[in-house]
Amino acid sequence: HGSYNQKIDYVFKIVLIGDSAVGKSQLLARFSRDEFNVDSKATIGVEFQTKTLDIDHKTVKAQVWDTAGQERYRAVTSAYYRGALGALLVYDITKRESFDHMARWLSELREHGNKSDLGSLRAVSTEDAKEFAQSQNVFFMETSALEATNVEPAFVSVLTEIY
Ligand code: GTP
Ligand code: MG
Repeated sequence: HGSYNQKIDYVFKIVLIGDSAVGKSQLLARFSRDEFNVDSKATIGVEFQTKTLDIDHKTVKAQVWDTAGQERYRAVTSAYYRGALGALLVYDITKRESFDHMARWLSELREHGNKSDLGSLRAVSTEDAKEFAQSQNVFFMETSALEATNVEPAFVSVLTEIY
């Protein structure tokens, strides 16, 4: 099969970070396997998935590390930031706290809000998020793992910046 002998031009490590339950694992499930699970279990420690895609006629293998948002795993997960060339910092548009915590995560990130399908429960305005992203000079996009909205563009924008 073609993908077997596929020539990989670049391997990029990126990490997903953000509070627990904002949807990091489901963004990755949507991106890597086009799947979504309503009963997603909290990640324990760190997991990873890869996806190979074409960017500017180059074959790029994205190695995406999905970290646990729960506080008790923090010591383990931060070790995995090392060597990452990009990061998606994820918050939930219905959980104001998850957005307020972003400043804490902000050392090496690109930020992306998730669950944009839940507009009626919105607690973080797009304007607030845009303003914060601009002030920190990071890229911003609202996504929905559920509806598969902006998921690939979010990952591709991080990969393209690295590339
Ligand atoms: P930790 O592993 O604990 O850090 O959490 P996480 O950020 O990986 O969250 P996870 O992906 O497990 O999703 C948490 C819950 O939110 C699950 O019930 C998901 O089904 C739900 N969820 C994730 N993404 C979306 C989305 O885009 N829209 C909606 N409506 N729900 C979502
Ligand atoms: Mg998870």
